[in-house]
Amino acid sequence: MKTPITLLFGIDHPILGGGLMWLSDARYVAALVNAGCMGFITPRSYRSDEAFSQALRDCNELTEGRPFGVNLTLSHRPEANASVPRWIDAALERGVRIFETAGHAPAALIGTLHKSDAIVIHKASSIRHALSAERAGADAIALVGMEEGGHPGVNELPTMLLGALAVDQFRVPVVLGGGIGRGRQIAAVLAQGLDGVLIGSRFLVCEEISTHRRYKEHLVSCDEHSTVRLLHSLGNTWRVLRNETARQIEKVERAGVTDHSAFGDLISGAVTRDHCYTNGDWERGMASLGPSIAFARRIEPLQAIVAEMINEARESISGLSSMEQE
Ligand SMILES: Cc1cc2nc3c(=O)[nH]c(=O)nc-3n(C[C@H](O)[C@H](O)[C@H](O)COP(=O)(O)O)c2cc1C
Repeated sequence: MKTPITLLFGIDHPILGGGLMWLSDARYVAALVNAGCMGFITPRSYRSDEAFSQALRDCNELTEGRPFGVNLTLSHRPEANASVPRWIDAALERGVRIFETAGHAPAALIGTLHKSDAIVIHKASSIRHALSAERAGADAIALVGMEEGGHPGVNELPTMLLGALAVDQFRVPVVLGGGIGRGRQIAAVLAQGLDGVLIGSRFLVCEEISTHRRYKEHLVSCDEHSTVRLLHSLGNTWRVLRNETARQIEKVERAGVTDHSAFGDLISGAVTRDHCYTNGDWERGMASLGPSIAFARRIEPLQAIVAEMINEARESISGLSSMEQE
């Protein structure tokens, strides 16, 4: 399946695994690359620059030198972006030339990355922001709908509609993300005239993701109602697993609280990392997750998930073309 996105990234399948805070480490990203997709290491997940550099070295080894990407999630608070230039230097030094940017004002960064001949895909949840990233030079766009696990922004539009609206508006390749977990959906995205998909939640049950088995076992029991969007009232919409922490946050939010600090540890990333991801206590922490988790029925190697999706996408595409011939 060749599309402008497979050609841009030099990959076999039109599937990107979006950056995952705490989780898209060397092992997972290498698994994506080795399965013919593209993946992005998240530098924010590491406790030190040295640990991030080690992850880059490990990924290089695991992919045997095949290209992989780095995710740069930009905060609206400048102080939270202080390490970004160091992360870029470390990545470039290790030969990384593919970056996924997300979040606030990527324009200056895109210019910097282009000076080193890097390819930048910018992820946005509105067509307006995506168009402005394209004007700033982004080489590709990932558009994410409100189904997305993690931070879909204040966007209320579903993925399918965003995709239909986006067609013909961009010069660069566009992939769609949010709620995608089956091959048929890949076929639908390609049928819409877009170039590929971006996936996060569906891949969380793969063997190469480092979370505790208990958490993955809970994930395979989830259905399409197992996630909830929180903090929308604060302009920081976050789609997460419906668990005890989510219920407590909902209560605080309903009481009209508008100050982030009032949520205390409930929204702490370290709590999610330590309790949910490391210890498997899935009731604790805000665990980014979207409803496409409903498609996950087994813990299995990433390669198996990708192969099933690609087979299904191919079958759907040929089913549609034979309909035309009958
Ligand atoms: C556990 C998890 C962590 C995420 N962390 C980040 C992140 O740090 N930076 C980012 O740009 N996107 C992050 N995302 C969003 C994904 O990169 C991707 O856009 C999203 O998962 C696609 O939607 P889906 O979950 O419906 O497949 C995260 C998503 C999940 C599920």
